[in-house]
Amino acid sequence: MKERTLLLIKPDALQRGLVGDILSRFEHKGFKIAGVKMLQMSKELSKEHYAHLVSKPFYPDLEKFMTSQPIVAVVIEGKEAVEVTRLIVGPTNASKAPGGTVRGDFSNSTSRNVIHASDSKETAEKEIHRFFKPHELFDYKLNDAFLYASDE
Ligand code: PPS
Repeated sequence: MKERTLLLIKPDALQRGLVGDILSRFEHKGFKIAGVKMLQMSKELSKEHYAHLVSKPFYPDLEKFMTSQPIVAVVIEGKEAVEVTRLIVGPTNASKAPGGTVRGDFSNSTSRNVIHASDSKETAEKEIHRFFKPHELFDYKLNDAFLYASDE
């Protein structure tokens, strides 16, 4: 039950005043916010976070974009958090993202696609560690009796 994943709410979402709307999607689904912070991504952090993309032709634009304005990093916790969060986020190319997903509802772009979400449990662990120190994550009780049956 205590699976955690990382979201980055990107500069376009902050600029467009979408942070609250985006966060509420995850809260309304029943996920717990275990940590949240605003930060300015450095070029070094961008290169570490997007290490698998540094050689792609679009990387310079991605780095410029991600370091241009603050972002909001969020750790989401709950049942199957990695997989379910990716479903809520929708595909990278927001033009093709179904309505009802965050990208489908708020973006029409692959690069300005409002949010990043970890793509596996292993990646989530590394990405959470990259953005949060242990004392910045909170273990508090949510009364989840109305969210899940006791045998789930
Ligand atoms: S890939 O190409 O399959 O490895 O893509 P992925 O791992 O899904 O990550 C792509 C991230 O790079 C951002 N980005 C772009 N992707 C494709 N094309 C262009 N032009 C582009 N520009 C930026 C894209 O938004 C993905 O960011 P994250 O933060 O991972 O969602």
